[in-house]
Amino acid sequence: MTAKELREKYINFFLSKGHKHIPSASLIPENDPSVLFTTAGMHPLVPYLMGEIHPGGKKVVDIQKCIRTSDIDEVGDNRHLTFFEMMGNWSFGDYFKKEAIEWSWEFLTGSKWLGLDPQRIYVTVFKGEEGIPKDDESLKIWQNIFKKEGITHEIAKNEKIDDTTRIIPLGKEDNFWIAGATGPCGADTEMFYDINPQAGPLDGKFNELVKSGRLIEIWNDVFMEFDKTAEGKYVPLKQQNVDTGMGLERTITVLNGFDNVFQTEFFQPLFKEIEKLSGKKYADDENTRAFRIIADHIKAAAFILADPKGITPSNVDRGYVLRRLIRRAVRYGKLLGIKDIFTFKIAEHVIKMYQDTYPELHENKNFIINQLTLEEEKFDKTINNGMKEFEKISHDKNISGKEAFVLFSTYGFPFEMTKEIAQEKGIKINEKEFDDEFKKHQELSRTASAGMFKGGLADTSDETKKLHTAAHLMLAALRKVLGPDVYQKGSNITAERLRFDFSYDKKMTPEQIKEVEDLVNEKIKEKIPVKMEEMDTEKAKKEGATGVFGHKYGDRVKVYTIGNFSQEICGGPHAENTSELGHFHIQKEESSSAGVRRIKAILG
Ligand code: ALA
Repeated sequence: MTAKELREKYINFFLSKGHKHIPSASLIPENDPSVLFTTAGMHPLVPYLMGEIHPGGKKVVDIQKCIRTSDIDEVGDNRHLTFFEMMGNWSFGDYFKKEAIEWSWEFLTGSKWLGLDPQRIYVTVFKGEEGIPKDDESLKIWQNIFKKEGITHEIAKNEKIDDTTRIIPLGKEDNFWIAGATGPCGADTEMFYDINPQAGPLDGKFNELVKSGRLIEIWNDVFMEFDKTAEGKYVPLKQQNVDTGMGLERTITVLNGFDNVFQTEFFQPLFKEIEKLSGKKYADDENTRAFRIIADHIKAAAFILADPKGITPSNVDRGYVLRRLIRRAVRYGKLLGIKDIFTFKIAEHVIKMYQDTYPELHENKNFIINQLTLEEEKFDKTINNGMKEFEKISHDKNISGKEAFVLFSTYGFPFEMTKEIAQEKGIKINEKEFDDEFKKHQELSRTASAGMFKGGLADTSDETKKLHTAAHLMLAALRKVLGPDVYQKGSNITAERLRFDFSYDKKMTPEQIKEVEDLVNEKIKEKIPVKMEEMDTEKAKKEGATGVFGHKYGDRVKVYTIGNFSQEICGGPHAENTSELGHFHIQKEESSSAGVRRIKAILG
């Protein structure tokens, strides 16, 4: 089965069960300061899991582009990818466990659908832990399904399985899903497929069999019914939701009888190109990992660059992840012996492969290719400068941890590369000292972004709500002071501060900054209620609301109004009254990029 067929089948199946198809959201989360990238289908849908009304109704189906960088060191095994597509069906307070599980089974095994062998499917359920009860309901639903199919369905004891076992109860680590530290969460049940039954009956610890690559997870049904608070409490949500995630690449793998994701159509053309460029063979064991890393990373980089938000490689936040992906790929290309600038050639295949499904790749083709090439050239320079420094510090055949760290932090020389070159030249490095230095430095410079790599959820603490509302007041004030050509270009809000980019091509004067501050503080003092109204885009436009039109989810948008001062289309959440905000202060006004200024502001 091809990816195209699978995407269509998935959508059609859930359309037949009364779902509405919604498009993939951007890879760059909007209004969610706690994550750098969309790591799962739920990020753009959090408000609806929390109880807001989705314009598409209570049952939707989607295929979401995702980037997960926390698995970066696992890329190269048989199943971990940085970029992947997650197919998902959603219930926002509509159906729950019974329908979700039965539909999963029907789609996996039905001859009209995937027609997978029921005998090769194994499932896990939540065994209960930390005050959250065992998921007996899911367990019973599965027992009934297996019974009906005439499949032996023993429950695993101590997480061990053999050929009679079907259902494996596991703890929070495995069967409880949350995207970060706080937010919507719940027990889940996961479906695994035995990709190599020819090797004989399954026998052993469940997690070992997964680690070995024999059992591969293809689907996760999450039953989102709690909101985990910052204090660590699990508070029941207004409604019981379903969030499922089926990995497209993994599913294509098992459907085609492959034993790893890299054998699929998503990677073969990329490997052929790398073979051409390097003269090495993917099938030779010593090359396989490098091929996989290059293909995976350049694909992810191309998708990040394709986003209309125009992320470019840099040393912070998303730009840093992008830089790391490109440089790591280049590094592995060099190890394979590729001499010329090459990443754009891989990207061209990625664009061709995906552009029908994701037209943004085609639309931003030049940008993708230029940015990759620029970054590769920059990295080349870094390597050359770094090599000179390397020669200097290694003349006595010893590199201290501190020196290796300077090479890394000042010259941008990856430590793995320092190690490899040192090894080639018989030079010793004090690795422990490097690690200590690295940790020390990391603790010193721990930024909000550090936590973001893990993939947290929108921080809806009171502080961020207030800053969110302050951002609306500030935009209205900026437009009053600087003129109506000022538009929001981006924002990033944490519990501590607000960062806001807007279109304006001059440095603001201190007087203008003060005027904006005063206006915002005046509106705070006026104790104005913040009102929200859902309306269709046309009406919002007519009323003169600012914000992003052409909304993703159909016609209806939320408009937040603050007196007659500010009216903006926005997902929320917000403070209820401006009086909650305290005192508004602009800390910094600087250039962000050509024609775009950036303000950092706080509430005190
Ligand atoms: N949100 C769930 C996951 O990402 C479905 O696995």
